[in-house]
Amino acid sequence: MGQHKNKLKRIGFSSSFGILAATLGSAVGLGNIWKFPYLTGANGGAGFLLVYLLATLLVGLPVMIAEIALGRQAKANPISAFEALSPKRQPWWLIGAAGMLAAFLILSFYSEVVAWVFAYVVKAISGSILSSDRHVTEAAFNALISDPLQSLLWQWAVLLFIGGILLLGVTKGIEALTKKLMPLLFALLLLLCMVSLTLDKAAEGLAFLFNPDFSKITASVVLTAVGLAFFKLSVGMGTMMTYGSYFRDDQDISLTTLRVMGADLCVSMLAGIAIFPAVFTFGFAPGAGPALVFITIPAVFSQIPMGQLLMVLFFVLAAVAATGAMLSLMEVPVVIFHERFGLSRPRATLLTIVLLAGLGSSCALTNSTLEDFKLFGMTMFDLFDFVSSNILLPAGGIFIALFVGWVWGIDNFRKAVTNQGMLANETTARIVFFLLRYVTPVLVLVVMLKGLKLF
Ligand code: PHE
Repeated sequence: MGQHKNKLKRIGFSSSFGILAATLGSAVGLGNIWKFPYLTGANGGAGFLLVYLLATLLVGLPVMIAEIALGRQAKANPISAFEALSPKRQPWWLIGAAGMLAAFLILSFYSEVVAWVFAYVVKAISGSILSSDRHVTEAAFNALISDPLQSLLWQWAVLLFIGGILLLGVTKGIEALTKKLMPLLFALLLLLCMVSLTLDKAAEGLAFLFNPDFSKITASVVLTAVGLAFFKLSVGMGTMMTYGSYFRDDQDISLTTLRVMGADLCVSMLAGIAIFPAVFTFGFAPGAGPALVFITIPAVFSQIPMGQLLMVLFFVLAAVAATGAMLSLMEVPVVIFHERFGLSRPRATLLTIVLLAGLGSSCALTNSTLEDFKLFGMTMFDLFDFVSSNILLPAGGIFIALFVGWVWGIDNFRKAVTNQGMLANETTARIVFFLLRYVTPVLVLVVMLKGLKLF
């Protein structure tokens, strides 16, 4: 396994803006539009949001800085990076291996949600889902997910599409496109928010989102919020390390990270403000689960002139956002297969796609053929989501923080964050290092133990 022979051949991101766009492209995705609203709805609203924001600041942000710093230093895939940076015979590379497992689990259900988005583009064009009657929008969504053939075919279409982008080597082109289209998604969400705010029960929706009811914050709610913070920023599993390995040496890591976090939070908040007023106005259940966005968004669009056209645009843009996130998820196994197992990049991509088509189908069939197939009381879709977000990513975060805090050390970290002293980021480096060394690992460990009822 010639793990370092590709090091010199790696081509990184060329411009500072390109780095920001790609990193943002990884962070912003269905996590904002789909997962954030549905988890906020299912976990009681504002209290969950508050914990999520705290987790993003205290845990997500430091781990993201750590990952990018490690990746840029090692210029290698997560497994090789830990091997290169850790003392001999210490198995830190296992973090990279666990990250690869997390990537497969996430991709398995994520590709299915992207499949629903693709299918909704077509449904939106046909006009069959545009309605403020919740029975209509709920029935349309249920018809889609309970049809095994449609679910599978759409998922495979998504995998072929993403695989095609990677195989044709047009990732850069897609990133350029994403960069141009993201402001449009932002604008459309803003429009949706404005419409939503004029709805009858807008105040109720906003109160749900912003007025915390602390009695709803249980240990498992906190763990879910922490898991979401990791998932949102694409950290805890090597994605940001891999992207960090393409970062230029003169890029300001902490500033880039801060910007990505800010923009990512904005998109999630807009999605929340667009959705919750509609939930209360049209009588949806906030805890509707993964269906929430798919059943409420059509109701909001039904209130706007040219709503059908705009809804098509919305799902196209959601698909674009999801594509950036999926590309970054796939990058982890592809680079590992390539650099560690000596497969060419096209072969590594094909292998990843084939493995995903198999593993992912268990998520695609979760609401039909495999409805009753459960492990630990969960369907495969829920299980993969739970294991990745609530176990693997937080655990990855703990170990990454411990690695930087106790093995890599303050000197290396400070050099990375200040670009060898070129940037005036001393204080940032110290604060983040302190968080990584003491706060992040303890906090996440306690949250995990309590949330998983192990303690
Ligand atoms: N952050 C992405 C989103 O919110 C999902 C993701 C998770 C991407 C982990 C890469 C790694 O949609």
